[in-house]
Amino acid sequence: MTTEERSGRPRVVVGVDGSAPALDAVRWAAEDAVRHGLPLRLVHACATPPLRHHRSTAVASDSLDLLIDRGRQFLREAVAFAVHVCPGLETEQDLRVGQPAEVLLDAAAGARMLVTGSRGLGGFRDLLLGSVSSAVSDHATCPVVVVRSPALGGPPRWDGPVVVGVDGTPASEAAVAVAFEEASLRGAVLVAVHTWSDVAFSGMWMTLPLIVDWDVVAAEEAHLLDERMAGWQEKYPDVEVRRVVRRDRPVRALLDVAQDAALLVVGSRGHHDYAGLGLGSTSRALLHSACCPVAVVRPHH
Ligand SMILES: Nc1ncnc2c1ncn2[C@@H]1O[C@H](COP(=O)(O)OP(=O)(O)OP(=O)(O)O)[C@@H](O)[C@H]1O
Ligand SMILES: [Mg+2]
Repeated sequence: MTTEERSGRPRVVVGVDGSAPALDAVRWAAEDAVRHGLPLRLVHACATPPLRHHRSTAVASDSLDLLIDRGRQFLREAVAFAVHVCPGLETEQDLRVGQPAEVLLDAAAGARMLVTGSRGLGGFRDLLLGSVSSAVSDHATCPVVVVRSPALGGPPRWDGPVVVGVDGTPASEAAVAVAFEEASLRGAVLVAVHTWSDVAFSGMWMTLPLIVDWDVVAAEEAHLLDERMAGWQEKYPDVEVRRVVRRDRPVRALLDVAQDAALLVVGSRGHHDYAGLGLGSTSRALLHSACCPVAVVRPHH
């Protein structure tokens, strides 16, 4: 049983590596935690550098001490920032030695949410998603929020709509649950996006209108979205829901609708639920390209 389960109060957990994107993640996580009335756990993993490929080479203990001191400093700065952004926030610091993704996954067991920056201190300038964020969004059992700040700079906006991708699968049902909760908490509009084909409609597919009545299909798909939202709207009557139904690829539609979003929420997998695979292609593409924070939610989290 985790600490969270014992105390009955889950944490919001955020990964801190001393980088500016991680501080954006801390700001997002602090605001989310304070609105939920939950503590924020700030975690730093001291990873000893791999000195040689394929062999473990111990680092001198003095070097490890230096890394630990540096990690403590990162955590102190991040806590000060979180409390500055959200006075009264309850915080915990958690410093562990180990590989960052493994440490974060372990620290987030039973958490309400695990939050990371889209990038960290790492080397390759043009990467859109760092390896730690990528690994935790592949493997975490709790929802993961990867915080990407707007391309024009400044922190992610808090007051935009919450956008959710709905495809009717169990993972998207779990995403809808998180999206309603977040929209209700923020007093935000919830935009539910349902697209009903990821086939590229070009070339020979353009002959299909001869045999398919797209208006009928569109009406059926709109009805499906209504059905998916009905129970949730009863549970959250305060949340204003807007529906978007398109014959489009989900990635393109979601990127388009989420341009001004405060949060984009998607399930970890869609219809192609091959056992053993990590994220579906839509979720993965959105993590790489959305210019707002993205939440990835697993079914039955
Ligand atoms: N050592 C760490 N301890 C805690 N959280 C971390 C650590 N490293 C990364 N993170 C979290 O993951 C986020 C993304 O960092 P990540 O390491 O994935 O990107 P990167 O450093 O740009 O790329 P890479 O490390 O793959 O070269 C950070 O903003 C932070 O939230
Ligand atoms: Mg890194």
